[in-house]
Amino acid sequence: MTKKVVLITGSSRGLGLELTRQYAEAGWYVHACARRLSKAVKLKALAQLHENISLHELDITSDRQIRALAGCLQGQAIDLLINNAGVYGPKGLAMDEIDRETWLNVLNVNTVSPLLVSLALLPNLRAGQLKKLVIISSKMGSQADNSSGGSYIYRSGKSAVNAVGKSLSVDLQPDGIAVAVLHPGWVQTDMGGPAALIKADKSVTGMCKVIDQLTLENSGRFVAFDGVELPW
Ligand SMILES: NC(=O)c1ccc[n+]([C@@H]2O[C@H](COP(=O)([O-])OP(=O)(O)OC[C@H]3O[C@@H](n4cnc5c(N)ncnc54)[C@H](OP(=O)(O)O)[C@@H]3O)[C@@H](O)[C@H]2O)c1
Repeated sequence: MTKKVVLITGSSRGLGLELTRQYAEAGWYVHACARRLSKAVKLKALAQLHENISLHELDITSDRQIRALAGCLQGQAIDLLINNAGVYGPKGLAMDEIDRETWLNVLNVNTVSPLLVSLALLPNLRAGQLKKLVIISSKMGSQADNSSGGSYIYRSGKSAVNAVGKSLSVDLQPDGIAVAVLHPGWVQTDMGGPAALIKADKSVTGMCKVIDQLTLENSGRFVAFDGVELPW
């Protein structure tokens, strides 16, 4: 039987590394992408243990690298694309400390790049059997859930990528591609910090289950790692 194929962005650490580990251990072929492979020590060590992991250098903000990746994978099927890479931006910024460049940099990573990576790899997804596209967003992008205010930069980027995911789910329906926007929980990673509620393995086990249950019929939803549907 041919292996199922997943491509994951931001695999160097945190949730991306754990997604790579769990899909590789489940027998999938994993295209693991990292911004700087030279620094992705844990990912390279993981790839040494699994011949079903192939490594790619991809800064998702680089159009040149996106084109190069699409060129390298031309003609190859991808069953599942996981747009995981993301940044928080400077933590604890007061409202009046926000500057244009910092904000635009975060939007570039968290909002613009997941769409551009997805579009570049659409031919691969169309050629796949499973046809699933996932965006790792955050509950902080939910308007309904925002009772504490603040976090303008991160919240706006995740709200906007939620809109990207919703539109993709509508536009890719004729191609048979199902789309899910996921909230991984508050997770102990470099971004989530040590006080976070859950460990990466629990978050990823849950997200893999949600992805497993993703179909064209339930496409276009915002879902947490534990399967609970979230309000936009
Ligand atoms: N942890 C949480 O509690 C939490 C909660 C809600 C949502 N999320 C979301 O979950 C996703 C993963 O977060 P995490 O907790 O695993 O964060 P993390 O530990 O900070 O890891 C972020 C990953 O994204 C990569 N990345 C950042 N900018 C990139 C770029 N321009 N090109 C390619 N890769 C880039 C990083 O690569 P480098 O190693 O090269 O920097 C790293 O692999 C993010 O989208 C985040 O917003 C996390």
